[in-house]
This record gives sequence, structure tokens and C-alpha cells, in this order.
Amino acid sequence: MINRKGIILSGGTGSRLYPITQVVSKQLIPVFDKPMIYYPLSTLMSIGITEILIITTPNDLDKFKSLLSNGNQWGISIEYQVQKKPNGIAEALIIAEKFIKNSNVVLILGDNIFHGNDLPNRLKKVSIDEETATILAYPVKNPDQYGIVNFDKDFNPISLEEKPQTPKSKFAITGMYFYDKEACSLAKKLLPSNRGELEITDLNIMYMKRKKLKVFLLDRGDVWLDAGTHITLSQATQYVQTIEERQGMKISCPEEVAYRSNLIDKNKLKLLAKRYSNNDYGKYLYNLIDT
Ligand code: DAU
Repeated sequence: MINRKGIILSGGTGSRLYPITQVVSKQLIPVFDKPMIYYPLSTLMSIGITEILIITTPNDLDKFKSLLSNGNQWGISIEYQVQKKPNGIAEALIIAEKFIKNSNVVLILGDNIFHGNDLPNRLKKVSIDEETATILAYPVKNPDQYGIVNFDKDFNPISLEEKPQTPKSKFAITGMYFYDKEACSLAKKLLPSNRGELEITDLNIMYMKRKKLKVFLLDRGDVWLDAGTHITLSQATQYVQTIEERQGMKISCPEEVAYRSNLIDKNKLKLLAKRYSNNDYGKYLYNLIDT
């Protein structure tokens, strides 16, 4: 049994998606057939994380609670905390101090979507490592838009930079970070960057300097999307729709992950399906019971 809890950071202003996100949280808007937060939530569940903290804005807290409640419906536990202002991704680890207690933790951004053959099993192996922190690397065409990692042949990081003008590699650091028990105390040592944020890249640099940071390279066939702009949101929706309609299988459906992971039984799944019995989502859940 791994001693690792999960945090989904779902705050921020979502201003890059205005006017869509002017009155609704970015992580609650749809990516094809489900709210965006279902994707990172299912990713955590699929690697065996059952204690999850959602961090959101004071304004959006009630909406997240009414959508996801305490997680019991999916056999997991969900707690909530607020981030008063978007003071940086690394602040999530400080806000989560009481929740984390003495656990390892995986932090995922609420707008990050991961999909890949056998990816949950590969990430489970990453998750088992309790001694080091791990970041996931993924090649991108526009490295100046991301945190960028350069690494050696043994996947040891050599440099980490946040949105560099002249990137040293094309490998973006995705919004999913595995940390050991030190994460919160190290995050507390961070100072705000020029843009006034506690930068997750600065925390990762601390781990790198301590030789406690590993890089896990996602496979060529894996998909990582961040649905943070109009274009990437639309691309994410098209991707999910295309795959789901072609294969007849859903991407990041928490009810399915819960059922397949034995977190809920057939009867509970039936109850969940009943809520949506007049649409394809409900039919899909009923089908899972039958097959
Ligand atoms: O998506 C991966 C990238 O995410 C990484 O490559 C970068 O290193 C990392 O800094 C981050 O870059 P972004 O430019 O995407 O960060 P952004 O400020 O857009 O925040 C990402 C998500 O986190 C977004 O959904 C809002 C949420 N957020 C962000 C901040 C700064 C919060 O909830 N609170 C915050 O304080």
C-alpha cells in the first residue's frame, strides 16, 4: 500500500478563457462529455490515490462541493480547501499541510488531461517511489510556454526553467508532480518570483539541487493536454470526442475507474447510472454493469 495522497489545484482566475470562465470556474467547464476536473480526478484514482484534496477559490468552493461531494459515491474521500488568491502553484502544498500530514503527495493541475495506453500502470510505478520527487516530461513544439526540463541519459535533471525565452530542451514539465514527505516544508522556504508567485519550478529546483528529483518521460503515444486556452480547450474536447466515439470507451470517467478498481460495486454503479439514465453517459455506465 502506498502512502500517497492527491491534491488537485483548481483555483486561478481562468482569465485566458474569458468570457467562458467569467462566472464559472475553468475546471468545471466541459471537456466534451464531462467537467474538466473529472480528468485529473480520474487520473489520480486510476493510480490508486483515494484521499484527495481539492483546492479552489472561495467563490467556486460550493460548486465543486455540489458536483463532487465527499467522494463517497466513488469510494474515495474528497476534502476541500480554498486558495484566497492565485499566489502560485507551489502554495497548494502549504495550504494542504494538514491534509498531507506525514504522507507522500501527488499534485495535479485541474486543467491537465493525461491519456495513454497502460499509463496508469506506469504512473503507479512512479508513485511507489517514496524517496524521490518525480516530474513528468513531454515534448512540445512551443517550449517557451511551459516549465522546461533538460535531462541526461539516466533521466537526471540538469536544468529546470519556467517559460524560458531560449529553452534548453523541448521537454515541458507537465502539471503532475510526485513529492515525498518534505514537499510542504520545502515549499514554505520558497520566495515569490518576479511575477509574485510561489513557483512550482523553484520547488522542483530545490529537489534537483538535493539530487532528489527524477524525470519520467511520457511515451510518444501518450497524450498530455492542458485545456487552459480557447484553442487547447477545443483541441481537448475534439480529442476526447474522437477517441470516445471511435472506441466506444470513455476517457477519465470516474464512475468507471471506481468500478474497475473495485472501489464501488455493481449496485453502487447502477445507482450512479440512474442519475443519467436519459443520456449516453448513463447508458455507458449501464453497459459497464452488463459487460
Ligand atoms: O501545465 C503545465 C505548466 O503549468 C507547467 O509546465 C509550468 O511549469 C507551470 O508553471 C504551469 O504553467 P501555467 O502557465 O499553465 O500555469 P498557470 O498559471 O496557468 O496555472 C496552471 C493551473 O493552475 C491553472 O488551471 C490555474 C491553477 N492555479 C494557478 C496558480 C498560479 C491555481 O489554482 N492557483 C495558482 O496560484
